[in-house]
Amino acid sequence: MQCLVITGASSGIGLATANTFQQAGWRVINISRSACPLKGVVNVTADLADPTMVAKISALLLDSLQGCTALSLIHNAARLDHDTVQAVDPEALRQTYEINLIAPAALNRLLLPAMSEGSSILYVGSTLGEKAVPGSFSYVTSKHASIGMMRATCQDLAGSGIHTACINPGFTDTEMLRDHIPADVMPEIAQMSAFGRLIDPTEIGATLLFAAQNPVLNGSVLNANLGQIER
Ligand SMILES: NC(=O)c1ccc[n+]([C@@H]2O[C@H](COP(=O)([O-])OP(=O)(O)OC[C@H]3O[C@@H](n4cnc5c(N)ncnc54)[C@H](OP(=O)(O)O)[C@@H]3O)[C@@H](O)[C@H]2O)c1
Repeated sequence: MQCLVITGASSGIGLATANTFQQAGWRVINISRSACPLKGVVNVTADLADPTMVAKISALLLDSLQGCTALSLIHNAARLDHDTVQAVDPEALRQTYEINLIAPAALNRLLLPAMSEGSSILYVGSTLGEKAVPGSFSYVTSKHASIGMMRATCQDLAGSGIHTACINPGFTDTEMLRDHIPADVMPEIAQMSAFGRLIDPTEIGATLLFAAQNPVLNGSVLNANLGQIER
């Protein structure tokens, strides 16, 4: 059986992705603080900001993989703060890096021995992995590093039959976006795509399933943003 291990499937893009993979016949294992509401998903409760997270969940996580032939590991959970280069809080920056970067690296190390040929490691990046906007300092720097991590993953796993890619969503209709953008500004945000609307999380889920199934994408950065309008 094909298995998906995904972080942050309790809401938004992660939840939609878990549903998409489940519908396609995959077993889904979610890692987040609150549970994924989908029936049949195995929940491994963890706070990715906790540096001891992997030690705490490794036995349960590895046990949940029994019977998995190929694995897709999707690093989806992330933290997004409003902060700037002038006023970044070092502890908040550390926590963002712990969730957005250290946890993916630690999960890769834990799960790679269980990943056979045909497996994949997919990173959910952001448009802000390749450009910056004011006021999202820690997020922008971490998402740039996600692309670097994907590229290093590709080089280190050459010959293993395991592929990787980084999918960069544009403005997607989730709690993270609604928390970050005031409601009265949202219509303007929707107009920043060439389709004049927000992305539905299911569209990113479908893109991630496609990436998991197509090793030809190995090493790619995929911009899944409906064509962002630059102003
Ligand atoms: N929405 C957008 O417009 C957009 C655009 C570009 C990129 N993205 C990227 O898409 C990904 C998903 O974001 P989303 O929009 O779907 O956000 P979301 O709805 O807020 O979901 C975030 C998920 O991350 C999990 N998470 C956050 N902190 C965690 C922690 N400390 N430990 C464990 N899990 C944690 C949350 O689970 P718990 O709270 O249950 O722990 C939740 O399931 C992120 O990588 C984000 O950067 C989103």
